[in-house]
Amino acid sequence: MDPLVIAALLLALLFLAHLRRFRSNGVVVRSWVFGLDHMWLQGNALRNSQFVHFMKKREDKYGDTYQINMLGHPTIVTNDKENIKAVLAAQFKEYGKGPDFQNMAKDVFGRSILSTDGEIWHFARGVLRVQFMKERLRDVAMFDKHTTRLLAKVTPGEPLDLLKELYKFTTDTGTDFLLGQSVENLLSPTEDPFSKALGFVQDHFAQRTLLGKWWRILPTTGEYKRSLETINNFLEPFIQQALAIPVEELRDRGDKELSFLELLACESQDHEFLRDQILSIHIGARDTTACTLLWAFYLLSTKPAAYQKLRKEVLSVVGVDGLPDSAALHEMRFLNRVINEILRLRPTIPVNIRNALVDTTLPRGGGKSGDEPIHLQKGTSIMYSAYALHRNTHYHTMPDLEDFDPDRWEKWTPPTWSYLPWNGGPRICVGQAYAMHELKFVISRFVQRFSSIESFPQCDVHSYAPNAILQPTVPTLIKFHAGGDVDELAIPSL
Ligand code: HEM
Repeated sequence: MDPLVIAALLLALLFLAHLRRFRSNGVVVRSWVFGLDHMWLQGNALRNSQFVHFMKKREDKYGDTYQINMLGHPTIVTNDKENIKAVLAAQFKEYGKGPDFQNMAKDVFGRSILSTDGEIWHFARGVLRVQFMKERLRDVAMFDKHTTRLLAKVTPGEPLDLLKELYKFTTDTGTDFLLGQSVENLLSPTEDPFSKALGFVQDHFAQRTLLGKWWRILPTTGEYKRSLETINNFLEPFIQQALAIPVEELRDRGDKELSFLELLACESQDHEFLRDQILSIHIGARDTTACTLLWAFYLLSTKPAAYQKLRKEVLSVVGVDGLPDSAALHEMRFLNRVINEILRLRPTIPVNIRNALVDTTLPRGGGKSGDEPIHLQKGTSIMYSAYALHRNTHYHTMPDLEDFDPDRWEKWTPPTWSYLPWNGGPRICVGQAYAMHELKFVISRFVQRFSSIESFPQCDVHSYAPNAILQPTVPTLIKFHAGGDVDELAIPSL
């Protein structure tokens, strides 16, 4: 027989074997020819900054749970809250970041809380969780110092590329709180070498995650290696310094006098452990907080009545000048609703992925009705999107889902596992309380100072950069307007 015919037959057999294997687990496959069709469409969506919309549209078309096959690697895409709950909580031990992610993250994150599973993750989580509960982290003076510098960037009535300044701000607060010394980017016209190197490494890492199992095909450039070196060289003296102080002496000083790194050094004297956790926390905190603050001001600019209502609340609690401490921020119930609503519409980590660590199941998505369990082989990936989940009309039945309406939170609570901006289960964001404090502090300081805000473009920003964090592709200019005693303004009653 002609060798070409033999090759074609073999290929056809291989293809059918793939289809059979995928169908035998009970879920519908939505990709062809080893997933090349899906990869082509996904690549286009990423290039056009439409990835989250692409995922949402495919779920609208194919239902809440389906499978794709990326060059032979099966991936379940699910928007079913029961499946997400199984992955994140009910069957927690059966799912994790997985060995591929751990390998691709090794040179950046090492054995950190962000990248590991099992015992190593459990130990890191235990140590960090305790530190994040400390009141020491609600350091109002530290936040106020950097927020004052951020406020100084605003010229009332002039448009400002806010995200650029917010990145500097969260870099400064992050280094201050973690290391006890800020890199002071808000005071400098240029970005410090550590943050620049971190930006480069994060961009490279985002490309690795997009390639998934095939991340090794991305070349490790000289600039990447130099950037990793810059990051390590920057952190090294801080770690050396923390390790040079005897643990007893650190403990005697008391929590208030210690940086987060020194707090960790009281619990572990392992150099690598300290480096890996500190860097991961900085990465986990910086971009998420900066982008959430941008979305906060952007969305508030689209609803002047909500802004005025928030202003009335903030001024009634702390006045125009009062420092919003933990107790004051706790009193601001409407501010809480504003942040919940921002994270509903713009969950800063819009898409997430997990890996089956053993042969296992998902409770739903199989069979003709889609209500039966699915069987998964070890190594299968599971992808879910908080952005799509927050727009899933099975769970969120209100008609105005795309409307920014903080008031809805007065009477409405999302069904469990249908609202996940912080993720859920044992791996829920460990910095959530710290992040909420920072978000509330900055927003209330701005609201105290400015009577109204505008944004440009004024059309709804719906085009997002192709990386792990939801951020706009176009510079979003925000204009803050000064002055205006609260009594002079037409403010709706609270
Ligand atoms: C608005 C701000 C933030 C949002 C929306 C956010 C959201 C999230 C989400 C969705 C995850 C889960 C990621 C995953 O499992 O793959 C996560 C994990 C994490 N976050 Fe945050 N985060 C924010 C701010 C922060 C801050 C300020 C810190 C630290 C100071 C922080 C530290 C972490 C860490 C260490 C993890 C890993 C937890 C683990 O795997 O056990 N985050 N965050």
